[in-house]
Amino acid sequence: MRVGMLTGGGDCPGLNAVMRAVARKGEREFGYELVGFIDGWRGVIDNQTRPLSVEALRGTLPRGGTILGTSRTNPFNVEGGVDKVMATLEEQKVDALVAIGGDDTLGVANKLFDLGVHTIGVPKTIDNDLSATELTFGFDTAVQIATDAIDRLHTTAESHHRVLVCEVMGRHAGHIALWSGIAGGATMILIPEEPFDIEAVCDALVRRHEKGNYASIVVVAEGAVPKEGTMSLVSGETDQFGHVRLGGIANTLATEIESRTSYETRVTILGHIQRGGTPTAFDRVLATRFGIGAIDAVHDGDFGKMVALQAGEIVRVPLSAGVGAPKLVDPAFYHGVAEVFFAG
Ligand code: F6P
Repeated sequence: MRVGMLTGGGDCPGLNAVMRAVARKGEREFGYELVGFIDGWRGVIDNQTRPLSVEALRGTLPRGGTILGTSRTNPFNVEGGVDKVMATLEEQKVDALVAIGGDDTLGVANKLFDLGVHTIGVPKTIDNDLSATELTFGFDTAVQIATDAIDRLHTTAESHHRVLVCEVMGRHAGHIALWSGIAGGATMILIPEEPFDIEAVCDALVRRHEKGNYASIVVVAEGAVPKEGTMSLVSGETDQFGHVRLGGIANTLATEIESRTSYETRVTILGHIQRGGTPTAFDRVLATRFGIGAIDAVHDGDFGKMVALQAGEIVRVPLSAGVGAPKLVDPAFYHGVAEVFFAG
């Protein structure tokens, strides 16, 4: 059996660990041959491959990014894209395809499954917003990086009596902001699920500063939105899956905070630092478990499935369950835990 693998969408610490696990069990236990497609679905469209043997993946467990490369190419949005995908899979004699990616990559895998391709999905996103799995690898690493940054911001904020706005990733969901904000003792956490009122944010900061706590850290997810009409935002380019390029709400927010409160306000946008570098031990283990789960699904011929973490166990769910609606922050967690500490 020949098994193809690809990594699509934004990169994520732990991608190599997944592939290493697929290759180790696939090659050593099942006797499969592994082939990697370069740069996500683009490599399948263009028939660009590289061998992915156990040897080729040696030493990659702690390595961030993806040795296969990635892209946000959508074959269903490229002229003749799907036909080219089918032709490549036939030419490469690929019997099964393990797609490691987020909502977009797995959405393509799901549509291809409907067209008869033997796909298996592995959920990946630092945002942790994929449905049907309690966690995705890369999230723990991103939260740790953001928490370390917030820890550092505290001392400089206090020294200068400033408000520091720290922007983290999180397009549809505020999991990274929430976890790193709680762990880092943020003054306030703004997430996409809870549109904010800039006036209320500023009032809370003023109340805090008037109590003598003259420094604040506001953690904001890149996808956070103001309540309608309370603050305007600038929007950027869109990719092949129709997503607007985010990043920069912290700047608008800081300008508003400074002009409304007259507190000196500065911005830190963590951006791709959160996606780079070595995965935490937790993410390496989760990625490894997902990889083993994926190759087991291939071996069982259980296609059209995504591996997922549920109640601590690796399970298989239909690909369709993992894509579509994002997994959002639980309002009880936001209001019942995080909010208790806001502007205190
Ligand atoms: O992979 C998800 C994500 O990290 C989002 O949080 C973010 O909006 C996006 O990727 C950024 O993507 P890119 O690196 O393509 O600009």
